[in-house]
Amino acid sequence: MPLIVEQNTTNAELFLSVAGAGAKVVPTLEELRRALAETPEEHAVVLGPAVDLEAAAALADNLRITRPAVSVILMRRRVDTAVLAEALRSGMREVVEERDLSGLSDAIKRAFQVYRAVTGPSSRLDEHPVGRVVTVFSPKGGVGKTTIAANLAVALATRDKTRVCLVDLDLGFGDVAITLQLFPARTIADAVALESDLDFAALEPLLTPHRRGFSTLVAPVQPDAKDSIPASLVSRVLAILKANFEFVIVDTSPAFDEHVLQAFDETDNLLLVTTLDVPTLKNVKIACETLDLLNFPKARRHLVLNRADDKVGLAPEKVESTLDMKIDQAIPTSAEVANATNAGEPITASHPKHSASQALFRLADAVTGAPAAAAVPEADDAARAKSRSTAPKRGLLRRQAR
Ligand SMILES: Nc1ncnc2c1ncn2[C@@H]1O[C@H](COP(=O)(O)OP(=O)(O)OP(=O)(O)O)[C@@H](O)[C@H]1O
Ligand SMILES: [Mg+2]
Repeated sequence: MPLIVEQNTTNAELFLSVAGAGAKVVPTLEELRRALAETPEEHAVVLGPAVDLEAAAALADNLRITRPAVSVILMRRRVDTAVLAEALRSGMREVVEERDLSGLSDAIKRAFQVYRAVTGPSSRLDEHPVGRVVTVFSPKGGVGKTTIAANLAVALATRDKTRVCLVDLDLGFGDVAITLQLFPARTIADAVALESDLDFAALEPLLTPHRRGFSTLVAPVQPDAKDSIPASLVSRVLAILKANFEFVIVDTSPAFDEHVLQAFDETDNLLLVTTLDVPTLKNVKIACETLDLLNFPKARRHLVLNRADDKVGLAPEKVESTLDMKIDQAIPTSAEVANATNAGEPITASHPKHSASQALFRLADAVTGAPAAAAVPEADDAARAKSRSTAPKRGLLRRQAR
């Protein structure tokens, strides 16, 4: 991921905001050389406006011979012909004005294309998958999918050295970015153009880091962008993320659309969210029948009862008997949950001792302890694969009122 030389903290934060998760700021060219030596897969070096032009040119001159896959991107307060001439002479790939953050973002993207052209496609996908995909789904809108997914990401990321990525697959109306008060430079829609040779090095710049230590891949801003995202991209993206994160948490739309169906194919643990109301229960029941049709293994389904203490005349036991499933985790109702969301900080982060947070931490424990796909009997998966060719692929449930 891009290495940025910048001492000014405001600039550093701005550059980092467009450089993608994993980008690193170093204060001096000396530090940069050290960091570069430790990062053989680096594709871009960004030199902040205060870096001396002559020293920058010397570095670029050296890198074009020793590390031709690394693009040098020079940031300048003002770009004039003298700067451009020097940049051209020394082999820098881009010169960008200090305030032109979208220009910097595009330059980093082009740097990656150069890297790919020089090094060829990455083989990292062939490495063993290290993680598991945990999908949070309900056929009903507004039951708490995004709240649970975001809190799960926070809870899992608090564990030492656990790499977590939260993916917003509610491609039309995704709320992850706003729920977490993120201002992403890239969304999953930016992966469409890269699909043919998408790998982690290409995907990583599209991730937005969250201050609680996890990464996010957010949904497009415009709802109609969903139509341009092929369902096959979802599988590819999740498979790549699974090879690079311990946990990939997927937030979904309240419908069995083709993107969500693709996500199910990559899902190790499916959290089915319900609440104590009859229409939701009815829809979750139909969803379970659909999952049966799709041969989605029962061992990988987990029932989460949100707003578990709502006094609405429907008991949790009724939910269990109707769905023929045990409730794996119940999360209480609390205004604090919604308050925390509205303040842009999931409750597990802002009030970790709150009873709702404790329930969400227990859910994270249950997810960690649950068997992943690899542990589910093979026969189950074989039957599932067979049935996928005959099972209905889309429109199984209509999107419910949100
Ligand atoms: N346990 C809870 N107690 C109180 N409020 C909650 C709880 N869980 C979720 N909420 C609130 O309910 C609202 C809907 O939650 P959320 O956006 O997570 O649902 P969703 O299933 O993702 O909705 P959609 O289908 O529209 O994406 C939010 O305002 C959220 O703060
Ligand atoms: Mg949601």
